[in-house]
Amino acid sequence: MSQETAKFLDAAWRAADSAGTLIRESWLQPKEIDYKGAIDLVTSVDRESERKIVEIIRGHFPDHSILAEEETDHRGARNQYRWIIDPLDGTTNFVHSYPQFGISIALERDGEVILGLVYDPLRGECFRALQGEGATLNGHPIRVSTVAKLNDALLATGFPYDRRENADYYLTFFKAFLTRSQGIRRAGAAALDLCYLACGRIDGFWELKLRPWDVAAGTLIVAESGGRLTDFSGNEFSIRGSETLASNGVIHDEMITVLKQIRA
Ligand code: IPD
Ligand code: CA
Ligand code: CA
Repeated sequence: MSQETAKFLDAAWRAADSAGTLIRESWLQPKEIDYKGAIDLVTSVDRESERKIVEIIRGHFPDHSILAEEETDHRGARNQYRWIIDPLDGTTNFVHSYPQFGISIALERDGEVILGLVYDPLRGECFRALQGEGATLNGHPIRVSTVAKLNDALLATGFPYDRRENADYYLTFFKAFLTRSQGIRRAGAAALDLCYLACGRIDGFWELKLRPWDVAAGTLIVAESGGRLTDFSGNEFSIRGSETLASNGVIHDEMITVLKQIRA
């Protein structure tokens, strides 16, 4: 690992650790909640977490650009490097003190994600990947599962915030996979779902309308642990696209076939 990369990782970890401490200390306290939409929540802790992360990243790399979920005024000048941050992924869980949420921090160079870190502050699990250098969980290398058939697979998904308007459409995907897999988990934090895929706890994941801060870190962690990522048709995956299909690679084509049948 180059000295520069080590500095990036160090800053990402310091930021995640600082935000993680805040989140851990506040998850059982009463929450101050605002509504971004009918069911799209944000709390003062999301915002405070973001402030802490941005302050640390800015302190280390004042010239780098930043794209963070909650605020727009600190995105900064355009730079070769851009940090993509979800200061609290799983806000609905957090609001209900349901223990499944994390912090997602990624770094892009020239539009390509080169570093991803996802931290679950309650379990103390830090998932991390560097482009071309593999992925780890608390320092130990991780790999995707070897489950060979959709029939034997445990899947995960989530539902976008327009689910009240488009419930039937989203449920067609759910039904198709429910009847063809061993089970589906809807845990409520996409960044952690992707990391669970990366370390073999689940075998496949699909979701619509995720945003760059939900997936930038997690998808690099999946790729670096041997997983495969595409859109729902099998085309190249983009963190700026609206379809995320991720799997252990082995069941990927089967998942694409199911998705194509739904849309046919
Ligand atoms: C959400 C979570 C959830 C997913 C939503 C995301 P947030 O992020 O990742 O699992 O289903 O689509 O928006 O709003 O809690 O940061
Ligand atoms: Ca999120
Ligand atoms: Ca968030």
